[in-house]
Amino acid sequence: MSKRVAIIGAGPSGLAQLRAFQSAKKKGDAIPEVVCFEKQDNWGGLWNYTWRTGLDEYGEPVHGSMYRYLWSNGPKEGLEFADYTFDEHFGKPIASYPPRAVLFDYIEGRMKKADVRDMIRFSTVCRNVSYDEATGKFTVTVEDLPNRRTYAEEFDNVVVATGHFSTPNVPFYPGFDTFKGRVLHAHDFRDAMEFKDKNILILGTSYSAEDIGSQCWKYGCKSITVAHRTAPMGYDWPDNWKEVPALVKVEGNTATFKDGTTADVDAVILCTGYQHHFPFMPEELRLVCPNVLATPMLYKGVAFIDNPKVFYLGMQDQWYTFNMFDAQAWWARDVIMGRIDVPAKADMQADIDARMKAESELEDDYACIDYQGAYTQELISETDYPSFDIKASNEAFYQWKKHKKKNIMTFRDNGYVSPMTGTQAPPHHTVWKDAMDDSLESYLDI
Ligand SMILES: Cc1cc2nc3c(=O)[nH]c(=O)nc-3n(C[C@H](O)[C@H](O)[C@H](O)COP(=O)(O)OP(=O)(O)OC[C@H]3O[C@@H](n4cnc5c(N)ncnc54)[C@H](O)[C@@H]3O)c2cc1C
Ligand SMILES: NC(=O)c1ccc[n+]([C@@H]2O[C@H](COP(=O)([O-])OP(=O)(O)OC[C@H]3O[C@@H](n4cnc5c(N)ncnc54)[C@H](OP(=O)(O)O)[C@@H]3O)[C@@H](O)[C@H]2O)c1
Repeated sequence: MSKRVAIIGAGPSGLAQLRAFQSAKKKGDAIPEVVCFEKQDNWGGLWNYTWRTGLDEYGEPVHGSMYRYLWSNGPKEGLEFADYTFDEHFGKPIASYPPRAVLFDYIEGRMKKADVRDMIRFSTVCRNVSYDEATGKFTVTVEDLPNRRTYAEEFDNVVVATGHFSTPNVPFYPGFDTFKGRVLHAHDFRDAMEFKDKNILILGTSYSAEDIGSQCWKYGCKSITVAHRTAPMGYDWPDNWKEVPALVKVEGNTATFKDGTTADVDAVILCTGYQHHFPFMPEELRLVCPNVLATPMLYKGVAFIDNPKVFYLGMQDQWYTFNMFDAQAWWARDVIMGRIDVPAKADMQADIDARMKAESELEDDYACIDYQGAYTQELISETDYPSFDIKASNEAFYQWKKHKKKNIMTFRDNGYVSPMTGTQAPPHHTVWKDAMDDSLESYLDI
């Protein structure tokens, strides 16, 4: 095959794309030349922890949004790779909510086995992509950061796998500019110990709000106040945690909420979500998208309809993650290799419209889980990605939801059944609230 494919980003999505091509090669198929550009000096994307915030050593925006002591917020049974199980990697059953380092090790284990590291150009940031209608080729311009060398190469396809939880959405509220404490976004949160004995105000009611609040609670902050713009999270929170209506303003250290109540706080943590941000893509190839399950502009959630030689991976709101990225990567690979045809633009648009309508009719989180499970299954059934029991994954997510409702501070103490191997996860040796060491060695008890 004389084709060349550029993958931008070596997080779980970009690595899924590399693994998809490598698996075809292993089966004896001729694959295109694949080059992956990764701006960090290692793979793993968000799972590659960095202490840095703001700009990195080269002046590039820091990609990492993960923090110390982060444990998976969903059960590992929902994200397991179908071609590389937890049992295979760890050689023994492990508990259901691994900390970041354990999941990084798992992601890395599959890629080491695939032996594709030399297909990645690390510390190389993508600066620009352009398309030439006449030649049908893309020019991808990158910078080799340590050597400050900018160069361009031609490709037949571009796979954008740069994630969408790194460019923060930062709202302004009156008084932020004169607030006496620290105002930070979740993207820059690194260590809950910073807020020990402090009163914190959190804005937002989604996963970052819930988890950063829980971290701060676990590591000894004095109180947590969460202000909601739309609706409270509604869990049965510990005594020093309260939910209040939307923030109106801060004056000095006093926050005032929509119902007129106030709270004195030391820090404001904005858990207000992220933006899909692709500054290196030209406007005509750029995905513009909110954090939803049915993405506009992408046929089957992957192929860019104005130019289906461009693919975006992992751009959806995420219940399913790693194995959904795999399903997308295998599907994109098969389009690139001519095994799957994409229909005419009008048909692709009709497909997108139908998916968006279906999403708008979903009634609750359980329906969202089913929806994304069915989407993942649909893509898998069109490729040779190993089929697995999606119903069992959905079931792990349902159980997770119920366990959170029952007790938000103990849900991580539960274990679920692997949809790949049928293995029942054992309980972790220490309950989450008392497990202060998040290292791989501690988690695996080695
Ligand atoms: C705080 C936090 C916690 C999370 N916890 C969980 C969890 O517990 N379980 C779960 O399943 N999911 C979790 N997620 C969701 C997460 O999005 C996925 O697990 C996964 O990391 C997404 O993979 P990705 O490859 O699409 O994106 P990313 O992991 O973001 O990787 C994108 C890669 O692209 C690179 N890149 C970006 N721009 C460029 C450029 N211009 N040129 C070259 N390279 C570039 C980045 O350096 C990065 O390596 C969490 C997300 C956040 C923010
Ligand atoms: N331990 C973990 O595994 C972990 C921890 C943290 C995050 N994550 C992952 O990170 C991803 C992102 O989650 P996220 O919570 O950061 O983002 P998110 O799910 O997009 O939620 C954004 C939140 O910000 C609120 N918001 C937006 N603009 C606001 C404004 N101007 N004022 C007040 N509130 C505003 C939204 O409220 P409305 O409802 O009013 O719109 C919503 O509650 C998820 O995939 C999640 O799973 C995982």
